[in-house]
Amino acid sequence: MALCCDDLEQISERLRCRTVAASNASDSLMEDAFSGLLSAPRSLPPKYFYDALGSILFDRICDTPEYYLTRTEDALLAKSAEAVIRNTRPTYIVELGSGTARKTRHLLTACASQEAPIVYAPLDVCREVLLESSEALIRDYRWLHITALVGDYHSDLPRLPAMLGGRLFVFLGSTIGNLTETEALAFLRELRSEMRTSDRLLLGIDRVKDAAVLHAAYNDCAGLTAEFNRNLLRVLNRELAADFKLDAYQHHACYNPIAKRIEMYLIAKAPQRVTIAAFDRSFQMDEGEAIQTEISRKFTYRAIERLLFMSELRIEQHFEADNGYFSLILARPHTVV
Ligand code: AVJ
Repeated sequence: MALCCDDLEQISERLRCRTVAASNASDSLMEDAFSGLLSAPRSLPPKYFYDALGSILFDRICDTPEYYLTRTEDALLAKSAEAVIRNTRPTYIVELGSGTARKTRHLLTACASQEAPIVYAPLDVCREVLLESSEALIRDYRWLHITALVGDYHSDLPRLPAMLGGRLFVFLGSTIGNLTETEALAFLRELRSEMRTSDRLLLGIDRVKDAAVLHAAYNDCAGLTAEFNRNLLRVLNRELAADFKLDAYQHHACYNPIAKRIEMYLIAKAPQRVTIAAFDRSFQMDEGEAIQTEISRKFTYRAIERLLFMSELRIEQHFEADNGYFSLILARPHTVV
């Protein structure tokens, strides 16, 4: 079922919600799971991790001592938010994949301290998470107006509502790392094509570092990453009436130093048949057979430069964590002649 593009709902005086999604989320899960699971090697797109439980698990991963990403980016944003707002002076902050919007608060606080009121436009696939985080923000920032956008930044960028004035697009958490180089380029180029001269992009990117640090971050002692990984099967069981047995799969995450990426898999502990009622299909998983559930790429500064250059974006400012673990990039559209 296609949703109407202009359903705008006034939730409270300072909060509106608009659906920009063109297609039904469960249709794309169906297609993505079908093509991913039945191809060799098997894979599933990481975007389906984030149902209600998956979002909670990810939040708990962020609090583990091993998962340095969130902590590092948060501290970096706390330090650089004032400069970002001073140098960009946006009318809108458009956050792609806002989730719980924990880190965004630094930008909003900087807006308040510089008396630069903005409209916050978070875009997220999950309406519940979007409204819950938006309601918390309008309570905490009494001047803030929010237009919450229900949609997927993978496909709905061309359907963003008209926003007059400069927009600061924000894409944090190194989510860009979940995309292959080809996908990341396609995504950034599409975003770039939506950007006007006065728009800016703030991009959070995880950097290449010691393999042991990376390995630990994706293999936390509490086993939360393993549980997060297996939750993807729970999503398929529910949404596609599949019968994956979660405890029959082993979490596996390792750093590939050649490709500079974490590769995350679910590995079948024993041979088994899986039925997916929604496809009216079943398939055989051999013992030791893997389903790739995520890649998480790590970047050198040169790789970041190259990615942005190839996307016709120019780096305006680079904020880097003291230990070099993480980068925040402020970029503007640039036309290569
Ligand atoms: C939210 C995509 C940045 O790749 O580090 C955390 C997701 N996966 N632990 C990442 C994730 C395993 C995370 N991102």
